[in-house]
Amino acid sequence: MLILGLQGSPRKKGNTNFLLSTFMTAAEKFGARTHVIDVTQKEIIPCKEYTVCEKKGYCPIEDDVKDEIYPLLREAELVVVATPIFFYNMTAQLKAVVDRCQMFWARKYKLKLKDPGANMRRGFLLAVGATKGKNLFEGLNLTTQYFFDAIGAKFEDGLTYRGIEGPKDMARHPKVIEEVEQAVERLLTPFQGRKKVLFACRENACRSQMASAFAQFLAGDKLDVANGGSEPAEKINPDMVTVMHEKGIDMGSRSPRSIEEAISNDAPELIITMGCGEQCPLVPGAKITDWDLPDPAGKSIEYMRDVRDEIEKKVVDLINEIK
Ligand SMILES: Cc1cc2nc3c(=O)[nH]c(=O)nc-3n(C[C@H](O)[C@H](O)[C@H](O)COP(=O)(O)O)c2cc1C
Repeated sequence: MLILGLQGSPRKKGNTNFLLSTFMTAAEKFGARTHVIDVTQKEIIPCKEYTVCEKKGYCPIEDDVKDEIYPLLREAELVVVATPIFFYNMTAQLKAVVDRCQMFWARKYKLKLKDPGANMRRGFLLAVGATKGKNLFEGLNLTTQYFFDAIGAKFEDGLTYRGIEGPKDMARHPKVIEEVEQAVERLLTPFQGRKKVLFACRENACRSQMASAFAQFLAGDKLDVANGGSEPAEKINPDMVTVMHEKGIDMGSRSPRSIEEAISNDAPELIITMGCGEQCPLVPGAKITDWDLPDPAGKSIEYMRDVRDEIEKKVVDLINEIK
């Protein structure tokens, strides 16, 4: 599983950085893959309210949100928002990312598409503020709650610390490491013990994308799903996206990756191949099953639909076998 941290403080060696890196170190000990985005170092253009996302489901702004942050938000199963309080909310740099996630809000509520990762994804908040008032985190909590709803993550509370001002105050807190480690254990326990399955095909543009989306959507609590291709295409197949959208399943912000990349962090226990030929991965100890499905690339949309339905049936059978 991937844990994505959004680090919102401009202070490089400050309190938020300390909190988030403590969290990620504890998560890695649990076997999770972690990725931190320091949003203060990224090119992030605030939302311009073009409303293209509400009509067409995508954001026309070209920057690091589009190229890097959207795909990671979709891939991550735990998203950690980490920020100091700036005027009773998150920092402006982080808020700009949140506003750009109107794109996910529009796909969910206007286009009625279901993100296959939303059943499992969790959201967690780490925050610090200098003062000690009762309302210190109220604004931030509200913004974070609606952000997590838009990106399809269940808000699992957070750790917030008052009276933290100088850059080393958080590191001096007597209980912080223990509290972060307890939170990590609580958050990651539901993700443990899932069967690791890799869906592999040639281009990772159609079959393995559809299979992994169905598997994640239908049984994300039982399966830890990865997908890859022996000869990854440049982008996913638009007909595949259309036929999955007909099923209400959102395939946005995905791109093909190689089999090596897909299994680089986590060795699968089960590999389902769908025509990657000689180049299908050989992972010691993994069971390999071939589904012998035809490649729908370059064929009609009806053909793509048939392959989609065949894959859905096979995924349902696989889930029933695993139960
Ligand atoms: C622009 C700005 C606004 C701030 N606003 C608040 C605030 O509203 N309430 C508060 O308690 N602290 C406020 N602070 C203090 C920071 O939240 C605090 O120093 C925090 O520990 C900084 O965390 P960092 O080291 O991760 O950047 C503000 C600081 C700055 C620079």
